[in-house]
Amino acid sequence: MTATIRLGSIGIGAMGARYAEQIAAGVVPRCKLAAVCARNPVQLAKFPQARAFTRSEDLIRSGAVDAVLIATPHYSHTTIGADALRNGLHVLVDKPISVHKADAERLIAAHTDLRQVFAAMFMMRTDPVFLKIRQMIHDGELGEVRRLNWTITNWFRPAAYYASAPWRGTWSGEGGGVLLNQCPHQLDLLPWLIGMPRRIRAFCHFGKYHHIEVEDEVTAYLDYDNNLTATFIASTGEAPGTNRLEIAGENGRFVFENGILTFTRNEVPASEFSRTAKELFAAPPTQTTVIPVQNIGGQHMAIVRNFVDAILDGSPLIAPASEGIRSVELANAMLLSSLQEQTVELPMDSALFEKELLRLIARHGGV
Ligand SMILES: NC(=O)c1ccc[n+]([C@@H]2O[C@H](COP(=O)([O-])OP(=O)(O)OC[C@H]3O[C@@H](n4cnc5c(N)ncnc54)[C@H](O)[C@@H]3O)[C@@H](O)[C@H]2O)c1
Repeated sequence: MTATIRLGSIGIGAMGARYAEQIAAGVVPRCKLAAVCARNPVQLAKFPQARAFTRSEDLIRSGAVDAVLIATPHYSHTTIGADALRNGLHVLVDKPISVHKADAERLIAAHTDLRQVFAAMFMMRTDPVFLKIRQMIHDGELGEVRRLNWTITNWFRPAAYYASAPWRGTWSGEGGGVLLNQCPHQLDLLPWLIGMPRRIRAFCHFGKYHHIEVEDEVTAYLDYDNNLTATFIASTGEAPGTNRLEIAGENGRFVFENGILTFTRNEVPASEFSRTAKELFAAPPTQTTVIPVQNIGGQHMAIVRNFVDAILDGSPLIAPASEGIRSVELANAMLLSSLQEQTVELPMDSALFEKELLRLIARHGGV
């Protein structure tokens, strides 16, 4: 008989309900929706085939599941994830793995039995566009990487979005804004593509476009040791927005925008051309090609499928949760730099950021 993973879906809100529906529909082979958990029993009623819980502690200890998928508000990722790991379950946690780096360290420290699979929902790692860019960087086709610019101002959210749940837009409920909620995927891809920077200087605007406590706009400068720099710009208030990724290297430049990936290749590497050209305003001749990549969708379920394959077959994880600390650290460091009006060196002091966050929570009357 083929083994089947009994999955418990914790959090049946906007995202968790979508996961649970697809798993219940059998989209993931060898995975059964065995239990669901939400605070609101109305959400649970949509899944009569699964055992229903209103407390994650009860689901985790029920014996009804082998693994859990956590899609609850951000702070509870750490507590629920650690509880599930300590009780021997495999865990797939949605982004961000934790609100802040100290919590991410606590969560990762709870993963002591490495036979348990611990993964994160970084589904954009399965996107053929980013896989292609990563492969071309790793294969040396871009040459040494010099600069990455990512502008993601197409996260527009109206006021109704922030009003839709009391945890949104607050330091005590959400723990951050566009960096913590909308950008974790890009902040995951950034080090996955080019590594972690050594220092960050960022400028955040808090409640610039919405009546919220947290940041709804950020402009960050990331500095690496090897002559590589990056900028990261994001907003939930700008319309029309842009989503444009540029990565420039010795041999050319990728641009990904409007679903099209182009690579402009320098016929001579940039620094070699600079050394040898005699003409004052010359630049390397280039050739631009559109790289065909087909996005077939289904990325979230690809991560769940990989999670199940890792449990049953030992397949390598696409997104180990331990790597989720990098996007948390980048988001925290951008906030810290902005709040302290100075450059933050990485690795960031996790206790310092936690203190800063607690101060923000207290200032805004949170608990
Ligand atoms: N990966 C993605 O593409 C993606 C997209 C959107 C949201 N998300 C993430 O999904 C998570 C949930 O977001 P959402 O928009 O679905 O939120 P939501 O407010 O719509 O739903 C939250 C759910 O969690 C439940 N819940 C709250 N506290 C709980 C607790 N302590 N124990 C058990 N259940 C609890 C609520 O009852 C509700 O069912 C967040 O981490 C968010 O960042 C991921």
